[in-house]
Amino acid sequence: MAMTTLHIVGCGRVGRSLARLWAEAGTFSIGQVLNRSVESAREAASFIGQGSAVERLERIDAGDWLMLAAPDGRLASIATDIAETLGGKDREPGAGPALAFHVSGAEPAEVLRPIGRPVASVHPVCPFSDPSRAVETFAGSHALGEGDDEVLDSVLAAFAQIGAATMRFDPVDKRRYHAATIAASNFLNVLDDLALGLAESAGLAHEQALKVIVALQRAGLANIERVGPVQALTGPIERGDRAVCEKLARTPGVAGNDLFMALARAAVDLAERKHGGRSGYLPDPLRELFAESGIVRSGGADGGL
Ligand SMILES: NC(=O)c1ccc[n+]([C@@H]2O[C@H](COP(=O)([O-])OP(=O)(O)OC[C@H]3O[C@@H](n4cnc5c(N)ncnc54)[C@H](OP(=O)(O)O)[C@@H]3O)[C@@H](O)[C@H]2O)c1
Repeated sequence: MAMTTLHIVGCGRVGRSLARLWAEAGTFSIGQVLNRSVESAREAASFIGQGSAVERLERIDAGDWLMLAAPDGRLASIATDIAETLGGKDREPGAGPALAFHVSGAEPAEVLRPIGRPVASVHPVCPFSDPSRAVETFAGSHALGEGDDEVLDSVLAAFAQIGAATMRFDPVDKRRYHAATIAASNFLNVLDDLALGLAESAGLAHEQALKVIVALQRAGLANIERVGPVQALTGPIERGDRAVCEKLARTPGVAGNDLFMALARAAVDLAERKHGGRSGYLPDPLRELFAESGIVRSGGADGGL
């Protein structure tokens, strides 16, 4: 049986990573690759090892699939452009695509409705910052899909073929789900940048600091996976150790650091939830310590990282 052809509109980090995995797995043969610039589409085809860079979509055959992996905010207008390019209501009988899907975690599958074919959306929950690395690490990621019943299982099956753990989902608010993935993923980078800045300004070499911080986080994540973020919380804020917290709040690099202070207050909230008022945990004095970075800074700390 002939392999299904997948055409791609928007073939950046996610598009080229998935396409290469599918090409290597023999799931799809990659067809047209359309980006904003044809040079970028050529680079994508070269990375994938298949596909033809095009300046506009050409005919799509009846059984072919179409993936949109362009930025979230452009999906609606690209879908309308595709509908026009492919002929809208006057499309040639029998012309494709058989279905269209996108990979955004923020937009519903519905945004592709103008294309006039069954639609789906599958969000690969994986950081694709470097496609060469993403193709090595993608297997084992989750891929969450929603869309038209008649095609969703087939699209999810394509993700399963490249090692994703697939599932259907039906979020009440997809943007809020997207915010959850940003909180879990992007904010980890923010935390590590904060932690590395402090460790390096304390005199640790970058590589040493990175090793220590990542190992600490791995162990913490294992605990969070086991008992959840509230029960897994530990440290001086969780213990309600006012003396240590006072020193912490006055430490150069901490005092005056709004991000650290805001996170410390959030940790006090978590600790309060963990102790539930049962063990004499006194959150308010700690909140005061971490309330106003400016007040603590007047105690002599320099406030910079
Ligand atoms: N990055 C992640 O970790 C991640 C994870 C899961 C899902 N996603 C989703 O994946 C999608 C793509 O994200 P990305 O990170 O791969 O973005 P990206 O690296 O910026 O790639 C976007 C691609 O879309 C092309 N493009 C932009 N406007 C276009 C248009 N009007 N017509 C045709 N092509 C167009 C760009 O072409 P040029 O190269 O010519 O500019 C670029 O190649 C988004 O929906 C995003 O939410 C991302």
